[in-house]
Amino acid sequence: MLFDKLKENSKIPFHMPGHKRNTKLLGNEFPYNIDITEIDGFDNLHNPVDIIKDIEDKAKKIYSSDNSFILVNGSTVGILAGINCIVKENDTVLLTRNCHKSVYNAIELSKGKTEYIELPIDEYGIYGKIDISLFKQKICRLKPKLVVITSPTYEGVISDIDVICEIAHSYKIPVLLDAAHGAHIFDLPYKSKADIVIMSLHKTLPALTQCAVAHVNGDLVNSELFRIKLSVFETSSPSYVLMASIDNCFNFINGEYQNRFIEYKKSRDKLINECKNLNNLKLVVYDDVTKLNIFTGYCDISGIELAEILRNEFNIEVEMACENYVVLITTVCDDFNNYKKLSSALFKIDKRLKKSYFKKIDTINMPKKHCEIWEVGKRGYVDLDNSIGLTCAEYIWLYPPGSPIIVPGEVINEEIIAFIKNGFNRNLCIQSSRKKIKEKIYCEIV
Ligand SMILES: Cc1ncc(COP(=O)(O)O)c(C=O)c1O
Repeated sequence: MLFDKLKENSKIPFHMPGHKRNTKLLGNEFPYNIDITEIDGFDNLHNPVDIIKDIEDKAKKIYSSDNSFILVNGSTVGILAGINCIVKENDTVLLTRNCHKSVYNAIELSKGKTEYIELPIDEYGIYGKIDISLFKQKICRLKPKLVVITSPTYEGVISDIDVICEIAHSYKIPVLLDAAHGAHIFDLPYKSKADIVIMSLHKTLPALTQCAVAHVNGDLVNSELFRIKLSVFETSSPSYVLMASIDNCFNFINGEYQNRFIEYKKSRDKLINECKNLNNLKLVVYDDVTKLNIFTGYCDISGIELAEILRNEFNIEVEMACENYVVLITTVCDDFNNYKKLSSALFKIDKRLKKSYFKKIDTINMPKKHCEIWEVGKRGYVDLDNSIGLTCAEYIWLYPPGSPIIVPGEVINEEIIAFIKNGFNRNLCIQSSRKKIKEKIYCEIV
C-alpha cells in the first residue's frame, strides 16, 4: 500500500519537497480535519477577495511583485496560463532548449512558433547561462511575442535576468521567467522585473508538493487575463490543505526563516568546504549554492551508480542522478546533522574509487525543424531504423535533466537514432511521450 510505504520511508532526503519532511521544525498537523471545499467564509481561489487574497498579498510583499497568484497545480499550471495568456496562433516564442515540458505543451496548445536560444554546455555536461549577445541578436531578428527562460536551472545556473529583461522590454516584449527552482531566492523577480515569474514553492521551501506561486509585473501582461487563464488550467476544487501550506510557508518566511537561514548557511557552507577536498568525486556548485552537483566524470563510477550506493549503503536519497553527476538539494528545512552523514558517506565512497580518463558527456545537435509542434500531420509508429528523414511526432527527452533530444515537428536524423540506441546501451534514462522509444518512434506518416 502506498500510504504504508510512504510512512515507512526513512531515507535522508536530499531531494524535493523543500520541507524535507521535517515535522520537528514544521509541526505535524496536516490534513483530514482541515480538508474542505469552498464553503462559506473560506474565499475562492479563482476569485480571491478575502482570506486567500491575504495569502496572495503576503506573496506580493515577500517577492516585491506587482501581482501574485497562489497555485495548487505546481509551476506547470502557471506556465500553461502564462503562455496561453500571451501567445496566439503563429506567434513566435523565443525559448531556451532546456525549458520544462510544460513550456512546450503550452506552446503546442497556443499554436505558437518555436525559436531557440542555444545554450553553452560546460565540461560537466551542464547547460550554462544565456549568452547575452546571442540573445540580443535573436530578439532583434525575430521580434518574438514572448521570451521564456529558465533560471535558476535544475543544477543552479542563474542567467543575467536583469539584462535579458531590459533588452526584451526595449522592444516591448514580455519575459516569462520559469523560476520553478528559485522560490527561495527572494530578490530574483524584484531585481529582474520579469513580466511573469513562476516559482514552485514545494521544490525549495517548506510547502507541500504542488504548491507554487506566480507573479505578474508591469503592464505588458494583463494580470486579469492571467487569472482567467489560470481558471482554465487549474483544478476547480483547489485543495485548502495545499493553500494552507502555502500560507504557512509565507508565515515561515516572514518569521523563523531569518534565524534558520543563518544556521543553514553555516552548516551548508561547512559541507561545501569539506566536499571541496574530495579526491575522485568532484563537487560542482553554480550561482545557486543550495544545489550540490557531485560530478563522477573523473572516476570509475557513473552518477547513477553513485546514487545507488548512497541509497543502498548510506540511506541517502539524491534529487536526480544521470550519467556523470548527481544533484543534491539542500534547504533551510534540512536536519543539519544529515550534512555530516552526507559528507562522511561521500568521503567513504571517494576513497574506494579510482581516477579514470575524463568521461566526456555526449551532446547532440538540435535537429532541423520541418514544421511547428502542432502542425505535424497524420501520425503513426515507425521502427527506429526506418524513421530517419521523417518528421518526429513526439518528444524524446534525456531525463533528467529533461531537455528534449527532439521535439514534434523536427526531422529525425542518423545522429539522433545513434544517440538513442547508444543511450539505452549505457542505461541512460531516455523517455518519450509515447513510451515506446526502445523500438519505435512516433512520426508523421507521409
Ligand atoms: C524548470 C522547471 N519548470 C517547471 C517545472 C514544473 O514544476 P511543477 O512540478 O511545480 O509543476 C519543473 C519541474 O520539475 C521544472 O524543472
